Amino acid sequence: GYRAEDDYDYLFKVVLIGDSGVGKSNLLSRFTRNEFSLESKSTIGVEFATRSLNVDGKVIKAQIWDTAGQERSWFAFVLLYVPQLLRLIYAILEFGGLNSPSNSVHISFSVLKLQLRNYCWSHLCPQYRAITSAYYRGAVGALLVYDVTRHSTFENVERWLRELRDHTDPNIVVMLIGNKSDLRHLVAVSTEDGKSFAEKESLFFMETSALEATNVDNAFAEVLTQIY
Ligand code: GTP
Ligand code: MG
Repeated sequence: GYRAEDDYDYLFKVVLIGDSGVGKSNLLSRFTRNEFSLESKSTIGVEFATRSLNVDGKVIKAQIWDTAGQERSWFAFVLLYVPQLLRLIYAILEFGGLNSPSNSVHISFSVLKLQLRNYCWSHLCPQYRAITSAYYRGAVGALLVYDVTRHSTFENVERWLRELRDHTDPNIVVMLIGNKSDLRHLVAVSTEDGKSFAEKESLFFMETSALEATNVDNAFAEVLTQIY
């Protein structure tokens, strides 16, 4: 029968995680718009896109969330956050006042310490920057992406997995993705290494290329089918 454009049986939230530059945003654009960009910029904040799939005659709408893996440059960091930090210190000094009773100086310094700690937590540690629990909230699937040409991105998978487990339901479906499989001559992480890590951690595993559109639809479809 007739189905409206926006009619669906299930809505599933899926998150993309992994180091900066591994290709998360291009996997998303390939899956939802069939687009790829060689010069894509690092994601700022959080973006999301949707696509509906048919599974067993049911319409499953995937809402896929994407954020930046980490801060890319010190320049961007200085530009964005140093003025903010100066304003914060200024506000606290003005509030507490250096020549006010020692009590309020003490209070203002503990406020400062708390602010600084939150600041470091959310801005300086790559794994915590931009990734708030809101990003993970309600997620039933995750694509944990590394770049097959950069071994460090594979080493960081463990940390991403820990963060994911800390913020999500244990039943979440996780697919480990080795992206950029088109760069065959630059491979630094073998398929076997990816596969055995995935087996050890009970994750699904696929190698993809957002550039050549290899396995991208398969990876998302597999996650959605497993959730369903
Ligand atoms: P952040 O937003 O900083 O976390 O990065 P990201 O994970 O979203 O990476 P993004 O999709 O922006 O891709 C980074 C770079 O890798 C871009 O220059 C892309 O063109 C390139 N890239 C992404 N996927 C592939 C791929 O499958 N093959 C090749 N050869 N390049 C890719
Ligand atoms: Mg991105």
